Amino acid sequence: MNKIEKYQELYSKAEALLSGESNELANLSNFCALIHNEFGFWWTGFYLIENEELVLGPFQGPVACTRIAFGKGVCGTAWEQAKSIVVPDVHAFEGHIACSSESNSEIVVPYFRHNNIRGVFDIDSKDFNTFDAIDKQYLEKLLSLLN
Ligand code: SME
Repeated sequence: MNKIEKYQELYSKAEALLSGESNELANLSNFCALIHNEFGFWWTGFYLIENEELVLGPFQGPVACTRIAFGKGVCGTAWEQAKSIVVPDVHAFEGHIACSSESNSEIVVPYFRHNNIRGVFDIDSKDFNTFDAIDKQYLEKLLSLLN
């Protein structure tokens, strides 16, 4: 199965998983578990906006930094710009916050709830160049299920 097929299958699974539940925490938790396990990423999770900063939310993977300021790191920058950021090499991203020395590439997608930015969804990979425009497109589509 190629990446696009994997994402298409994942979309149907996510739709089925989320449609019967309205609790945000339950849905965010299952959403990251689904994506994390399907692809076998290194770290997959949410940071949620609380009192002008990002605070660690539901995630899968090793322990991570708990708070990220507006405009800081890849996550804080994606929040500031309200746009997805694909980072092929985290060591080349100025201001990248290394929660784990094992991470080499990353994608951060804004998470909107009721059309307001509510946080970010972050995936880290141990490999370089893991994410591209296809991941951005399909992850944004998947995230729209949580709006
Ligand atoms: N690398 C992120 C921090 C979060 S961890 O990767 C889980 C950043 O630069 O914002």
